[in-house]
Amino acid sequence: MVFLFFVFFLGTLIALLHHVNDDLPPKLLLVSFDGFRADYLQNYEFPHLQNFINEGVLVEHVKNVFITKTFPNHYSIVTGLYEESHGIVANSMYDVATKKHFSDSNDKDPFWWNEAVPIWVTNQLQGNRSSAAAMWPGTDVLIHNTTPSYFMNYNSAVSFEERLNNITMWLSNSNPPVTFATLYWEEPDASGHKYGPEDKENMRTVLKVIDDHIGYLVQKLKMLGLWENLNVIITSDHGMTQCSKERLINLDGCIDHTNYALIDASPVAAVLPKNERETEVYNQLKACDPHMNVYLKEDIPARFHYQHNDRIQPIILVADEGWTIVQNKTEPVLTLGDHGYDNSLPSMHPFLAAHGPAFHRGYKHSTVNIVDIYPMMCHILGLKPQPNNGTFGNTKCLL
Ligand SMILES: *[C@@H]1O[C@H](CO)[C@@H](O)[C@H](O)[C@H]1NC(C)=O
Ligand SMILES: *[C@@H]1O[C@H](CO)[C@@H](O)[C@H](O)[C@H]1NC(C)=O
Ligand SMILES: *[C@@H]1O[C@H](CO)[C@@H](O)[C@H](O)[C@H]1NC(C)=O
Ligand SMILES: *[C@@H]1O[C@H](CO)[C@@H](O)[C@H](O)[C@H]1NC(C)=O
Ligand SMILES: [Zn+2]
Repeated sequence: MVFLFFVFFLGTLIALLHHVNDDLPPKLLLVSFDGFRADYLQNYEFPHLQNFINEGVLVEHVKNVFITKTFPNHYSIVTGLYEESHGIVANSMYDVATKKHFSDSNDKDPFWWNEAVPIWVTNQLQGNRSSAAAMWPGTDVLIHNTTPSYFMNYNSAVSFEERLNNITMWLSNSNPPVTFATLYWEEPDASGHKYGPEDKENMRTVLKVIDDHIGYLVQKLKMLGLWENLNVIITSDHGMTQCSKERLINLDGCIDHTNYALIDASPVAAVLPKNERETEVYNQLKACDPHMNVYLKEDIPARFHYQHNDRIQPIILVADEGWTIVQNKTEPVLTLGDHGYDNSLPSMHPFLAAHGPAFHRGYKHSTVNIVDIYPMMCHILGLKPQPNNGTFGNTKCLL
């Protein structure tokens, strides 16, 4: 009798707990490790990340958007838009009409961001919910007059542990609840630039630290009781390729630099000709070096979806993989690795892994587009997506 009662009691308790779980709003943590090239996963050891993947899903290649740079791709992840449609078309921009400049250290003017509505804003507008952010690009800017309810001002000196501790604190006790949170970390991008992705020894060291961060993340979520109910996406903005001082494209060797302004330098250069010299500048650049493509804005290939925006300059130069555009060979070139190149190059692609109640367990998929992540995140959170360039049908199989 006592035993039966106990079984009954246990059953009720389990049913109750289930009921409680059903009532919890879905939650999502979106994590980016900048510059995590897709094939690092095959070429290095990631014990913690592999455990995460074994219990969740893996997309081996994410086809990102052109140009394959940090700010543009992070904004595509959270808006589902190509760069020409969300307006963050480079890490360095100039707007001719307003004479405004944008750079990674001068990014706070809402003007640059307001062409799109990122998911953390939509999340707060469509329900009694909050968003939280640890340094994802744009999360410390008043976009459409809104920041995440909880955020940090960008400061590269703040450790991974502090970013994680604060984001998990916000995820575990806030009212209204934080249902969308995002976390950004600068590596392995910084080391990829410094050493080049072919420096196995140094890359192994930095990638082990990344894996340890992932181990700490999972441990922390388990400790706080968040692990079972939280959906976690781990992804990145772009890959990395090897560069060399032997592969420089020297603009000063072809054209007088007083005839144009260089808005963005390499490997996709944005050129603004001066004094109505567009044709002359174009012809000189066109004949400059066989290792780059030179496009008038109207001739940029349609597959780049990189044309219909005033912030895209009249001429763009696209270096071949591994080549670096410089204005003058006496400039010191410090980077042995770079990204920004053609988004059809596998070396430019990141990966995506995900875990949580919304995702399959032990499922692998070859490729999705970076713009397909947004409609999937909206679906998980029960949000009505903003108009976007993604296709939920492409990511639905992960759920
Ligand atoms: C993280 O939270 C602690 C404790 O609330 C706070 O002192 C610290 O300033 C926060 N860090 C950042 C980068 O916001
Ligand atoms: C929002 O939800 C919290 C509980 O999470 C509740 O206390 C609060 O009253 C709600 N506010 C509105 C406007 O529904
Ligand atoms: C390169 O820059 C140096 C220093 O600014 C300058 O003296 C030199 O004339 C430049 N070379 C060319 C080809 O413009
Ligand atoms: C991308 O989506 C935006 C918003 O719906 C739309 O204006 C734009 O035309 C789309 N781009 C393409 C290439 O379909
Ligand atoms: Zn970078």
